[in-house]
Amino acid sequence: MLQGKRTFLRPLAPDDIPIYQKWYNDQEVNYWANGAWPLSTMFNEEEIEERFFTPEKDNGRYIILNEEHKPIGTTGFRDINYPARSAVLFIIIGEKDFWGRGYGTDALKVLLDYLFFQWNFNRLSLDLWDGNFRAQKAYEKLGFKTEGRLRQARFVLGEYHDAILMGLLRDEYTQLPKY
Ligand SMILES: CC(C)(COP(=O)(O)OP(=O)(O)OC[C@H]1O[C@@H](n2cnc3c(N)ncnc32)[C@H](O)[C@@H]1OP(=O)(O)O)[C@@H](O)C(=O)NCCC(=O)NCCS
Repeated sequence: MLQGKRTFLRPLAPDDIPIYQKWYNDQEVNYWANGAWPLSTMFNEEEIEERFFTPEKDNGRYIILNEEHKPIGTTGFRDINYPARSAVLFIIIGEKDFWGRGYGTDALKVLLDYLFFQWNFNRLSLDLWDGNFRAQKAYEKLGFKTEGRLRQARFVLGEYHDAILMGLLRDEYTQLPKY
């Protein structure tokens, strides 16, 4: 188990399937995570299991726990480029009562420490849609820089939005003031 100031990260367990199903079927969570509202499909437990919990798919995916070890979200990495030592991150605080209280930044910090210093990644990136100011602020606090925009790449509630691409290099992260 990895530990931050307010959060812990641990691997997925089969018992997490129902809570994963709740988060991945939540319209507001989906709205912020990828601009999808309303959902075109709802995931049943079998689909959640197949999509996230089969052995070949659950690598690099963790549960975020709060101080009391309650699962509040999920984070992880995918799309590893081994020669470039890079990967793409994702994060979802699925328990909405925990938004805007520092848990997402803390959990990402735990993940960044792990990926930069134990996995020896050199570059980590992520993307968001341009209306997700809370996510952007959380990423900026950790040193992520905007590297580009995919114009009108997302369609949210009837309007086109840009996707913002953000990246962070290990050297930049190590030079940040201690969080
Ligand atoms: C995005 C997410 C991971 C951020 O985690 P969090 O715990 O809510 O964020 P934090 O509290 O750590 O940091 C958010 C920052 O944004 C600020 N913020 C909140 N709403 C904001 C807004 N509308 N405009 C600008 N800043 C805002 C907060 O004040 C805070 O900054 P501060 O610490 O300087 O005060 C979480 O909100 C989440 O999972 N949301 C739903 C799914 C999602 O959006 N996933 C990311 C997809 S890219």
